[in-house]
Amino acid sequence: MTNPSLAHIAIAVPDLHKAAQKYKDIFGATVSNPFDMPEHGVSMIKVEMNGLLIELLHPLGDNSPIAKFLEKNPKGGMHHMCFRVDDIEEYTKRFQERDMDVLNGGVSRIGMEGEPVVFVHPKEMDGVLVELEQASKSSKA
Ligand code: CO
Repeated sequence: MTNPSLAHIAIAVPDLHKAAQKYKDIFGATVSNPFDMPEHGVSMIKVEMNGLLIELLHPLGDNSPIAKFLEKNPKGGMHHMCFRVDDIEEYTKRFQERDMDVLNGGVSRIGMEGEPVVFVHPKEMDGVLVELEQASKSSKA
């Protein structure tokens, strides 16, 4: 197995357009148009620069996982970081073998980038919510 790589960083923001504009103006980042992902309860703008993907997330609809986070952090904040792994089941097992809490019982779901993902509870990773994303089998991104 190869070591995990950083797949993306997700930031909860109170204003998608304002947030994206800063990355565009200051860093020259490529920013997408905003789009809704109702199945994940978020609206998103993707920011890309030099191989780094930043997901700017804003709550969408009821039961958005971002809504409570923004209530606690009204100015926004880093929501999670995502590591791309070549064997999501192996890494899930490693956390569980250490009695660390993987959300949803460690059963992966299809994430925002279309690949299987699991989340490790932030209490296990020094306060940071960590997402593991299965590297796509077909293409190495
Ligand atoms: Co993510």
